[in-house]
Amino acid sequence: MDPRAIGVFDSGVGGLTVLKALRDRLPWESLLYLGDTARLPYGTKSAEAVSAYALQAARALVARDIKILVVADNTSSAQALGRLRAAFPDLPMVGVVEPGSAAAGHASARGRIIVIASESTVAAGAYPNAVRRARAEARVTQIACPLFVALVEEGLVDGPIAEQVVRHYLAANFLDAGEEERGDCLLLGCTHFPALSPLLRRMLGERVAIVDSASTTARAVEDVLESRGLAAPPGAPGVIRYLATDSPERFARVAPIFVPWTVTARDVEMITLE
Ligand code: DGL
Repeated sequence: MDPRAIGVFDSGVGGLTVLKALRDRLPWESLLYLGDTARLPYGTKSAEAVSAYALQAARALVARDIKILVVADNTSSAQALGRLRAAFPDLPMVGVVEPGSAAAGHASARGRIIVIASESTVAAGAYPNAVRRARAEARVTQIACPLFVALVEEGLVDGPIAEQVVRHYLAANFLDAGEEERGDCLLLGCTHFPALSPLLRRMLGERVAIVDSASTTARAVEDVLESRGLAAPPGAPGVIRYLATDSPERFARVAPIFVPWTVTARDVEMITLE
């Protein structure tokens, strides 16, 4: 039994989707969330920049005595997980790419899987590799959807503007595609995209499996904690703390898009990463 916190890292506020999944699954675990809001977005940045930022974030969380690191940011998971593991060989670590890919491999009816993600995640190619490890015959297409991040942060998760952007990115593989070519599984490879799930469900129809990595990542974290004897003793709900590298006010304003509970600016401690 280990009462120390689970460290959760993201480029910004979107990783709260993973924090929520952890809270739902492991309510007695304390959670320490770090959003590198000063340097967001990571999704347009090079592997070198993302890796350097992710290493700094991991160091800041390790200095605060976490027992496991959850890399909620898809871009860091895709570009930097290997380097993070090499830098902290004794720290248990879970990224979102493997759990999400395994879930997609499982959920897809015909193995025709479309991954939507940031530009940098797409460039890393980690999702297609991980999906094929889970399901060797899968045909995987990646689509970079940077506008979705901005839409979600603006709260535009439904209505004509959001619909038009969905059409822009997904018409060729879903809405206008022939039966053979059409995707049967959409893997949401970005922290922000679960907020668009209801709209995507409505536009793509019931036959498309929509998979996000948050809940499968929480399950993977549970497995690691249990197998290593690191789970917190069940009892009172764990404490949730927030760290950010820029405006606590903006963090608190955007948080309700991703979590159903209230986060105030006073709950968010501002730190500098170096
Ligand atoms: N958190 C990022 C991801 O999951 C999206 C936002 C960003 O680009 O920083 O890829």
